[in-house]
Amino acid sequence: MRRVDVLILAAGLGKRMRSRRIKLLHQVAGRPMVAHVAEAARALRPARLVAVVGHQADEVREALAGLCDLFALQSEQRGTGHAVVTAAPLLRRGGSSTLVILSGDVPAVRVSTLRALVARHRRSGAALTFVSTRVPDPSGYGRVVRDRDGRVARIVEERDAAPEEREIREINAGIYCAERASLLAALRSARPDNAQGEYYLTDAVHRLLSRGKRVAAVLHPEAEEVLGVNTRAELARANAALYARAAEALQERGVTLLDPARSWIDPRARVGRDSIIWPDVVIEGPCVLGEDTVVRPGCRLRNVAAGRGVEIRDHCVLDDARLGDGAVVGPFAHLRPGTVLETGSRVGNFVEVKKSRLGRGTKAMHLTYLGDATIGPGCNIGAGTITCNYDGVRKNPTTLDAGVFIGSDTQLIAPVRVGKGAYVAAGSTVTDDVPPGALAIGRGKQRNIEGWVARRPRKR
Ligand code: UD1
Ligand code: CA
Repeated sequence: MRRVDVLILAAGLGKRMRSRRIKLLHQVAGRPMVAHVAEAARALRPARLVAVVGHQADEVREALAGLCDLFALQSEQRGTGHAVVTAAPLLRRGGSSTLVILSGDVPAVRVSTLRALVARHRRSGAALTFVSTRVPDPSGYGRVVRDRDGRVARIVEERDAAPEEREIREINAGIYCAERASLLAALRSARPDNAQGEYYLTDAVHRLLSRGKRVAAVLHPEAEEVLGVNTRAELARANAALYARAAEALQERGVTLLDPARSWIDPRARVGRDSIIWPDVVIEGPCVLGEDTVVRPGCRLRNVAAGRGVEIRDHCVLDDARLGDGAVVGPFAHLRPGTVLETGSRVGNFVEVKKSRLGRGTKAMHLTYLGDATIGPGCNIGAGTITCNYDGVRKNPTTLDAGVFIGSDTQLIAPVRVGKGAYVAAGSTVTDDVPPGALAIGRGKQRNIEGWVARRPRKR
């Protein structure tokens, strides 16, 4: 396919969201909605990908960093036609003579739809081809007015539409493919003579027709995919649609989702086959989970990389963690950034781990905090162990060498090191390094006071 230029309109505010943040930055399936549009555009492998920014321009640029090549600043938002004209200087030289224009608020649009639009545009020889769709309730959208022979005559915005035009159910999706020169010429002659006092991109339709050019509409069968998000209700629908699509893609690759409508998996996440994901699981960011992974109900994973056969039991939170093959986590565990669980290691109930590595087969099964710790293979960390890593000023490291046994209710006052194969007796406060092979006992000596109960003072 010959290359195209793509222009994304991303300068508007989106009043109907009733938000301080501009509409295009609201998250859909874990990313700003405009990033989904840019991602779809990128997949067309355009000669140039340009975005028009305006409201909260810096944030929008940031959301599109690495996706868009160039940005045009539309400092006053005078309408979609004005936005295109604003970008014209960036589009003039080089690139392609075919221009695809997308609104930043159609996060569900598929690459296949864009490809079909471009192909249709080229076949038909039209100056402008746009995507339309039919909806039961067209309110808020531009209506596609056709002549008696069914040919597109113009697009009329809701606020400018006559009562009978408002009845039209075929609407403009805001996705266009145009001959750049003809479109820009038509837009330059457009006037803001409409209810909103704006320069409308949609005016190009009748302007091109009146110059004897051809305009075509591609009627898209699935409205949900191409509809712009304007309200919070539509935002919720876009989220549901993109999460549903991600779930279907995983199912096709051999992942079991026990209730796809109740898992929220980032479309960028990769999950190996024969993995099982229980309901109420949230997977954020580009996580990678190996084959035969089980994620039980109520877990949230963000930027997790896990090997094969990992089990994440109920109600765990994992953030920026790496898990080797066969690692087991939870129930009720919290793995914070910088956690590495090597092959076959296990972290159990009410255990919090931060910036720590647990070696092969090492276990910390109950009620434990491990922070800034490097723990060798084959260690056993007893219930209630705490690395006292923070002295009020800095974070200090704890090192446990291979095969160490830490008895229950131990405090390891960092910086501290326990040598290979050493034991620490339950209830110890370890302030000094323990040599390899030693037993450390650091607790008060027990005293029994015989007959104390009988002699104790009583209330009168
Ligand atoms: C637009 C179309 C309407 C279509 C609808 C589909 C026009 C005049 N109308 O209406 O026919 O049915 O989309 O969703 O084009 N933007 C700018 N600069 C501006 C104004 C808008 O960059 O000055 C951007 C917005 O950020 C947004 C896109 O253009 O991404 C569409 O703008 P919006 O205000 O949502 O247009 P609609 O009124 O929905
Ligand atoms: Ca819109």
